[in-house]
Amino acid sequence: MARLAKPPEASWTGRYPELGTGLVSYEDSVSPEFYELEREAIFRRAWLNVGRVEQLPHKGSFFTRELAVAKTSLIVTRDLDGQVHAFHNVCRHRGNKLVWDRTPRDETSGVCRQFMCKYHGWRYGLDGQLKYVLQEEEFFDFDKAEFPLVSVHCEVWEGFIFINLSAEPGQSLLDFLGPMVRGLEGYPFHLVTERYAFKADILSNWKIYLDAFQEYYHASILHSQQQVPSLRGFESGFKAPHYQVDGPHRLVSTGGWKGVPRHMTPLDQMYPIEHNVEAGLMGPWQRPDIPELDPANLPAGINPGGLDPWSISNFQIFPNFVILVYERGWYLTYQYWPTSHNTHAWEMSYYFPPSRNASERIRHEVTAVVSKEAGLQDAGTLDGTQMGLESRVIDRYPLSDQEITVRHLHKVTEDWVQSYLRNEKAVRA
Ligand code: FES
Ligand SMILES: [Fe+2]
Repeated sequence: MARLAKPPEASWTGRYPELGTGLVSYEDSVSPEFYELEREAIFRRAWLNVGRVEQLPHKGSFFTRELAVAKTSLIVTRDLDGQVHAFHNVCRHRGNKLVWDRTPRDETSGVCRQFMCKYHGWRYGLDGQLKYVLQEEEFFDFDKAEFPLVSVHCEVWEGFIFINLSAEPGQSLLDFLGPMVRGLEGYPFHLVTERYAFKADILSNWKIYLDAFQEYYHASILHSQQQVPSLRGFESGFKAPHYQVDGPHRLVSTGGWKGVPRHMTPLDQMYPIEHNVEAGLMGPWQRPDIPELDPANLPAGINPGGLDPWSISNFQIFPNFVILVYERGWYLTYQYWPTSHNTHAWEMSYYFPPSRNASERIRHEVTAVVSKEAGLQDAGTLDGTQMGLESRVIDRYPLSDQEITVRHLHKVTEDWVQSYLRNEKAVRA
């Protein structure tokens, strides 16, 4: 039988010949051995987002991050000069976890002047310097200056705090992000600070969930609740009109509508409240009255495909961070933190301009909750996908041109692991 052939040169995938068009293996998502390699090759080498500056609102603010994938816990602080730092959360005395609240395994946050170890009371400044040692005179040839907290490379970009766990990062954060992701620079993140955050434990490899958010054409099937007649004109959203790849990162944009979509009926939404409050999956219907958030004033790099109408740009920042900017004046972030080869923690944060009244507040909450629900619809299939892959009944899978982003993520993951293995071999030789 004749094969249906989409010539590669007429495709998004064809623009990046290094990706090929062949069948793809997901062994990288089912193998415990491969996961161990990813921990070293990717999560101990790439720049990782651990939060935003709004989580450190004051001098002395701090929060901790448990990074199971790197077998470490971090303390992120704003010191008394306003500088942001990151440290391993380990006391220099006898290795106790320094900062924790209810249990050593839970993350915590707060404001303080010094951190005091719960074991023998050593105290550290927000800049990591060791300030106080109980019975210091009993130690031998001891100088406090030689025992600061172990620092971690930490950079802030557009208010996003990134860390890098390698002793010497191979690239600066800006070089790592590259021109496509840096197209976000100038977006008014500092004006969009009302945050709703959720976390879910997911029964799949981290990449399998990333894949579910980097193509949109599953929406008409998996999210059929939102698939109703008046949205059919929005079909460009289901065959995404713009894809882009830059280094290890990806971008997919969708088209949208112009004006306030008052043509939508109650049947167009998942829940009746969406119609009542005029907010839902795509955000509050009415854009905020903030000039910096008018699409005409956004940096060109937000919609590099020049889509008109434009709706969403989804920046997939390697390895595990997503920034999704909506035309309706809000954005979200997703993070996928591996906890084993077939489990991960999914963190979602939804950001809006601070509410000025109760109806804005309700619109933000409805948007956040409906978006979370849509995300959990995706999550609901993932352990099924993981089980199917783990059966290893099939070893190679076809990917369409609308799945170029999926193809790219698995290729980049493999490339980073192979490059790590080559370097290891070279060091040992
Ligand atoms: S382990 Fe921290 S003070 Fe002893
Ligand atoms: Fe989805």
